[in-house]
Amino acid sequence: MGEQTTYIMIKPDGVERGLTDEIISRFQGIGLRMVGRRDLTPSLEIAETHYGIHKERPFYPDLIEFITSGPVVAMAWRGEDAIASSRKLIGATNWEEAEPGTIRADFARSIDHNVIHGSDGEDTAAFELGLWFPDGLED
Ligand code: RTP
Ligand code: MG
Repeated sequence: MGEQTTYIMIKPDGVERGLTDEIISRFQGIGLRMVGRRDLTPSLEIAETHYGIHKERPFYPDLIEFITSGPVVAMAWRGEDAIASSRKLIGATNWEEAEPGTIRADFARSIDHNVIHGSDGEDTAAFELGLWFPDGLED
């Protein structure tokens, strides 16, 4: 599979509930290393670009309102098979279907407020990393 870098974002509900340190230690626990971090409240523009693929979906307006509602922790994580192993650690979009022990099974309490985002493939990872880290990443 090889080394990959993926875009991970703790959403406003995760930050507000104080889950940041616990989530970071879970990523360290699967052998990935952080090569970028920004704490920010997303602008409307960055949120709409990030979630542009969902523009026509019924949940899109609520999704944009939620993701711009407060601070997020935007992160880049690097390591062997980082994209798929991060998605596995995060769990299914719908927390009720997420595997026990995943971040969403443990902490999410609705499909909309599901604590964390992770890139779903190499193309989206490259796109999202460029969007949230325009100045580049650490080595
Ligand atoms: P994410 O992009 O946030 O990592 O989540 P994901 O890949 O697991 O799910 P995706 O299909 O990309 O959906 C993006 C986010 O939109 C919200 N959503 N709501 N109400 C609904 O049916 C619904 N479906 C998706 C969730 O917040 C989801 O994480
Ligand atoms: Mg997604």
